[in-house]
Amino acid sequence: MAFTPILWLYNLLQWFLDKIFSPTPPAPGIRLRRPKIAVIGAGLTGVSAAAHCVGHGFDVTLFEAGDESHLGGIWSLVNSTSGLQIHSLMYRFHPSIKWEGGYPKQNQIVDQVRQVWQRYRIAEKTKFNTRVEKIYKDKSGRWIVNDSSQGRFDGIIPAIGTCGDPKMAGLPGQEAFHGEIYHSSDLDNKDARGKKILIIGGGASAVEALEWAVQTGASKISVLARSEKWIIPRNAFIDTLLAFNIFGQETFLSWIPENLLRLLFYRDLKDIAPPGGGLFTETPMVNSEIFDQIRAGKADWLRGDIEEVRENGIYFNHRAQGVPKGGVGRHRVIEGDIIIMATGYKRPSLDFLPDEAFQEGFLPPRWFVQCFPPNAPSICAINSTYVAAIGTVGSYHIGIYTRMLLMFLVDPLTTPRPWWMKRWVEFTSTVKSLAPTDAFDFFTYSELIYWFLFITLINPFRWKWFLFVFFGIGKSLPWKIVEQEDRLRNGLGYERSYLDASKDPS
Ligand SMILES: Cc1cc2nc3c(=O)[nH]c(=O)nc-3n(C[C@H](O)[C@H](O)[C@H](O)COP(=O)(O)OP(=O)(O)OC[C@H]3O[C@@H](n4cnc5c(N)ncnc54)[C@H](O)[C@@H]3O)c2cc1C
Ligand SMILES: NC(=O)c1ccc[n+]([C@@H]2O[C@H](COP(=O)([O-])OP(=O)(O)OC[C@H]3O[C@@H](n4cnc5c(N)ncnc54)[C@H](OP(=O)(O)O)[C@@H]3O)[C@@H](O)[C@H]2O)c1
Repeated sequence: MAFTPILWLYNLLQWFLDKIFSPTPPAPGIRLRRPKIAVIGAGLTGVSAAAHCVGHGFDVTLFEAGDESHLGGIWSLVNSTSGLQIHSLMYRFHPSIKWEGGYPKQNQIVDQVRQVWQRYRIAEKTKFNTRVEKIYKDKSGRWIVNDSSQGRFDGIIPAIGTCGDPKMAGLPGQEAFHGEIYHSSDLDNKDARGKKILIIGGGASAVEALEWAVQTGASKISVLARSEKWIIPRNAFIDTLLAFNIFGQETFLSWIPENLLRLLFYRDLKDIAPPGGGLFTETPMVNSEIFDQIRAGKADWLRGDIEEVRENGIYFNHRAQGVPKGGVGRHRVIEGDIIIMATGYKRPSLDFLPDEAFQEGFLPPRWFVQCFPPNAPSICAINSTYVAAIGTVGSYHIGIYTRMLLMFLVDPLTTPRPWWMKRWVEFTSTVKSLAPTDAFDFFTYSELIYWFLFITLINPFRWKWFLFVFFGIGKSLPWKIVEQEDRLRNGLGYERSYLDASKDPS
């Protein structure tokens, strides 16, 4: 790779982040202590959470439904041409990772997940081919995963992601089509050279399919999108700025970034921008190249409805901006040789969690800081209740959530009571009651950080944990205080915390 000063600085920054914030991997053969955590899902969230636990000395078992080739989760199942849309600085799912550039591809992402998995010796703690079907408590209140042969756990981290099996929507009349139909995640080894490509869907996968079709030499590309989503520039500064909206919703000032995007970024293509605003309502796509490809005549981006598939293409109702789905438009056949279904993924189910996690009025994502079910603070479903956001899924919050769970488990005085957890959900819903989406259906990254700050600062017993929860450092102070509290607890006849060495670590 060519030397550039920016890359050198980026590598230096990554080196510092690693040195300062990465917990030390456990030595071989060391006995890790309780609380013991069951992590479900070996995507980047699960591997990162497990690495944080063992790095701070706590035992884990990582359960993965697939075999070892699924290490890396959804990234292990998509095209090798897929890559980060957002800058990798915002996709540091663990402090020890080292990106080779700003926008790594699928292979590098999976490789980094594997490296974290190996570095923190999680291999010996991973159970592949083990789908978690149910979780329940034993008589002493410890969690059992599937059955008691898997061990007993004090905390659960469901990290099952949001992208399960590919969603292959059935199109009316598709059996008449003479060409091939593929899902957008299944394009490796397919050839678009000289062919007309029809892409169904208007999300991030449609953008990637468009880029794939351009790279493989398609003769004509048409994206058929039934609705509009915002596209924002691939620029770390602008994306960070947008993620800075602390309110995590549309505000009376949202017209400013929306109109700036129309004016300076969409320019002559503002017809394909969402007509009525709403930048802070749905995860935007991050891409700067597709407009150039549309301008260069390599691709069309058409809004409208698929009426039926014909043998040579799709009979399509092309709608103008602002006309709702199924509304009036211009009908014509858009010819194609290959249809790519960029129609998304099925959502993995959290049904294996116990009934107490699904309380009326507090169904996910209406959970404490979106991840803890109010009746079960020992469960922290990281990135699994996520709906939409400006920010990223693979970022620093994975460590914060994991350490928050560890704090709740280790130090009983910090554990939130169900009543307070529910009040927090209601309070946040009230604060966001003027937002066009439900309170937990959209957030920005700075709103997420504000949530963490708020719930850490509101309880004085959590103050001593501040550095540990936010940065993964400075745990010796809270450790010592909890040990003192243990002595007091012991004297008063109360149950001691996990840090008490006299407790059985098995
Ligand atoms: C092509 C593509 C590109 C993307 N690019 C970005 C991006 O640039 N920025 C961004 O923020 N996000 C992006 N995403 C979203 C992506 O989902 C997340 O970034 C991230 O990879 C999610 O990781 P995860 O570990 O939470 O979930 P996953 O990677 O989905 O991993 C979940 C794992 O849990 C396992 N599992 C599920 N249910 C069970 C069960 N019951 N028992 C045991 N195991 C189970 C699954 O087999 C899977 O291995 C992209 C998604 C796709 C498809
Ligand atoms: N590099 C990246 O950053 C990247 C790449 C790919 C995916 N991702 C992430 O992965 C997740 C999934 O993205 P995705 O693009 O695969 O899915 P998506 O965001 O769910 O978008 C699916 C698209 O298909 C349309 N659609 C669904 N069913 C349809 C049907 N029957 N007929 C016509 N259109 C239909 C949807 O329209 P409606 O909106 O009208 O329903 C939507 O435009 C997202 O979180 C995304 O951010 C990220």
